[in-house]
Amino acid sequence: MELLQQYLEASHHFVSAQSVTVLIGLLTILLFSVRIFVPTKAARALRKVPGPPSYPIVGNLVELFSKGYHECHKEWLRTYGSMYKYVMGDTLLVVSDPDIVQQVGVRMFKTFHDRPMPGFVDEERAGKALVFSKGQYWTGVRNAVLPLFHTAKLQHFGRTMHECAEQLVARLEKAAANEEQVNLLEWAGAMTMDVLGSSAFGVTFNSQVGEKTDGLTLTKAVSENLNNIAKLRISTLLAILFPPLRKPAQWMMLRIPGSADYVHRQRTAYILRESQKIIEARRKVRERLTWRLLRLLTCPVQEADVAETRHDFLSMLTQARNKTTGEPLSDKAILALVFEFLSAGTDTTANTLSFAVFCLTNNPAAEQKMCREIREFYEKLEKEGVADSEFRPTYDELAQFPYVEQVVQETLRLFPTGAVISRQASQDCHVAGIHLPKGVNVLIPVYAMHHNPEVCPDPDAFRPERFDPAEVAGRHPYAFIPFGLGPRMCIGHRFAMEEAKLALIRLYKRLTFTVINEKILRPDGKLDLQVGIVLKPRNGMWVVPQVQSK
Ligand code: HEM
Repeated sequence: MELLQQYLEASHHFVSAQSVTVLIGLLTILLFSVRIFVPTKAARALRKVPGPPSYPIVGNLVELFSKGYHECHKEWLRTYGSMYKYVMGDTLLVVSDPDIVQQVGVRMFKTFHDRPMPGFVDEERAGKALVFSKGQYWTGVRNAVLPLFHTAKLQHFGRTMHECAEQLVARLEKAAANEEQVNLLEWAGAMTMDVLGSSAFGVTFNSQVGEKTDGLTLTKAVSENLNNIAKLRISTLLAILFPPLRKPAQWMMLRIPGSADYVHRQRTAYILRESQKIIEARRKVRERLTWRLLRLLTCPVQEADVAETRHDFLSMLTQARNKTTGEPLSDKAILALVFEFLSAGTDTTANTLSFAVFCLTNNPAAEQKMCREIREFYEKLEKEGVADSEFRPTYDELAQFPYVEQVVQETLRLFPTGAVISRQASQDCHVAGIHLPKGVNVLIPVYAMHHNPEVCPDPDAFRPERFDPAEVAGRHPYAFIPFGLGPRMCIGHRFAMEEAKLALIRLYKRLTFTVINEKILRPDGKLDLQVGIVLKPRNGMWVVPQVQSK
């Protein structure tokens, strides 16, 4: 009897798995036919716009994934001009003329208020944070979070950034003494994680203190998550080509241990668990427990020194109300925001720092000019009787390093980690004389714009002098947009600039670097780049640090 029952249960599972497969098969055929024979609204509206030839079903996906979308846009901009279309799931419009970019991102903000939500992100979570939230909800959350980035706060964060940069310098000096090869991308990632932990969350991750700290594990998980989120896996492909099939396909893939979806889900779950621990630690502070009680028994916040007096992002969030609805932020919204800040606020700046070191190492004249500016500043300070150990430049004082700023800007021009930005039309409208129906996605190819020789002559050359005030005045204000534009511009842009400048100042006060070309260049001698959600050096940034001679 028991045997019969087991048989019936097994066959029941078999039948249901079989019916799901048949159903998916039929749906696929139906969707394929619709996709091939019925043009979408966007395809009809954009039929006269030029663009690369696309193939049935896959559109331009193969090219985008094989060459990298940053390179494709560079090529398409050269071939089809400043306005073109391509097909990835639906037909998309790409605009790169700075005037039209300004029109979409700034002047028509009411229409282009939101970004499209890619099918491969977790809609429920992402829709509650900032990057992919929409309409009035986004306005309320953005206004609630904005005070974290006020100038007064940034002045205060400078001290934390300085301390974290000093830890990185100390590690690199040790490596220099041993002539060790170092993956600077990972080490810079640990630094940016510590900066964000202290300044935004009020926790000390200690990512830089050893080889295998929990903070470091979190740094790696975040970085890999960002890489993999847009990688070509079955559910991503279906999310792009046939959104309705994404969920059933993901359901199946998640049951196969080791599959890309399975690994991705596990990594995301880990980051969410860590985010939750951070929130709980902060909540306990609000309940007036002493921080000693907050040493959690499990990693990585177990090491967290959660100071009661810090007015950070989390204390603000837990007390914040959505400025539009007046409602307190839900627990799910707070978790989504912590997750998003861990993702958006660490890897981006670490990539930029690594790219800056790469550019400087390959351009000794710029490197020397920057080192001179740093040296002269500290010599002047010494003459005024202020010791280096006592000096922590504030946000405003960083203005005294104009060339360092230009180096960061030129790095972001050559290697903007947000290589493409997007907006979605919330109503029918006209852009540059083209009628766009509601729902059409418009992309701005930042990387391609920054490499357009008509806007930036000799675009592959690293020349921080492009950002001399006289040269800037001669350029369109929307020709250089590494942090995006308009009200939806990167909320952390001043935080990121402050962190990158401070880190470069502290690094180049004492060190220089040799890059290990064999580990990071392509056979054609160019830096090997990878684009997932962000643009980054594919194989890390391998360097040998050297202590500067006095
Ligand atoms: C060098 C470092 C960084 C770069 C290059 C960068 C770039 C960008 C870009 C291009 C966007 C899209 C803007 C648009 O669509 O117009 C963006 C959005 C965003 N960034 Fe950053 N970012 C950096 C650092 C940071 C940091 C440090 C944080 C947080 C601490 C952060 C948080 C965000 C958030 C939350 C958004 C979404 C904003 C919204 O939709 O309201 N980013 N970033």
